Amino acid sequence: MNISTDYQVAKGELTDKVILVTGANRGFGRAMTLDLAKAGATVIMLGRDLGSLESVYDEVVDLGYQEPVLYPLDLEGATPEHYEQLQANLLENFDQLDGLIHNASIIGTMMPIEQYDIKLWYSTMQINVNAVFMLTQFLIPVLNKSDDARILFLSSSVGRSARAYWGAYGVSKFAIEGLSKTLSEELEKTNIRVNSLDPKRMRTKMRQTAYPAENADNNPTPESISPAIVYLMSESTKALNGEQLTLELD
Ligand SMILES: NC(=O)c1ccc[n+]([C@@H]2O[C@H](COP(=O)([O-])OP(=O)(O)OC[C@H]3O[C@@H](n4cnc5c(N)ncnc54)[C@H](OP(=O)(O)O)[C@@H]3O)[C@@H](O)[C@H]2O)c1
Repeated sequence: MNISTDYQVAKGELTDKVILVTGANRGFGRAMTLDLAKAGATVIMLGRDLGSLESVYDEVVDLGYQEPVLYPLDLEGATPEHYEQLQANLLENFDQLDGLIHNASIIGTMMPIEQYDIKLWYSTMQINVNAVFMLTQFLIPVLNKSDDARILFLSSSVGRSARAYWGAYGVSKFAIEGLSKTLSEELEKTNIRVNSLDPKRMRTKMRQTAYPAENADNNPTPESISPAIVYLMSESTKALNGEQLTLELD
């Protein structure tokens, strides 16, 4: 299902919503944090680099948007105890969680499976899949407290149709699609809606690593498409569940 990026964020449309974004310190995560905060949501900004998290926090506050909350965590090293602590923090400080956006991931390297570096395979699976599973598992009880909660998994075209040499990244996105679909069925009778989203292409560090020779100016900036994330957290998309969503760029 295609999702338009031509959405106007209205100030206050997500007031009282609490939304956790992973990898909120840069790239698409930073852009969606700014738009979600503009819409009035309290964004829990999860990331591993405190310095860049703080600079996005300053941007949000300087613009007069809803003040976010910083949550430094390295998804590669995080254990179930870290997620349990996050769950306890959220339950203590917020009445509910209304959104969980799994945005953080790493690209790994372009390599045939036959030669793929085993350590990098493990790291990619840990960040892109295992951390996503654990974070989801521990936050479902907090999402259950909301009367309209969303889980959004950032995916990719290589997680829907296999492409040679995309290695652990492509396989991790196939896993994310499976997780999204399975969870959407398991949570069907709850107030939690679950979908995956392929943002197609964005002018970020990840895209530059994957396509070093292309002219990055031809790719949309993450800021130009992040309003679609507000739309996907809004009342208007309440009925979407178990969908493989794709941003409409052209
Ligand atoms: N860019 C594209 O064209 C494109 C296309 C299809 C899908 N996507 C998907 O869209 C999402 C956002 O992509 P992007 O282009 O914004 O990527 P990006 O610029 O590479 O940013 C990735 C984010 O993930 C964070 N991250 C990586 N490892 C982490 C860890 N161990 N712990 C915590 N955070 C970690 C990074 O934090 P650090 O700053 O600390 O590294 C950064 O905030 C990804 O899921 C990607 O797969 C992107």
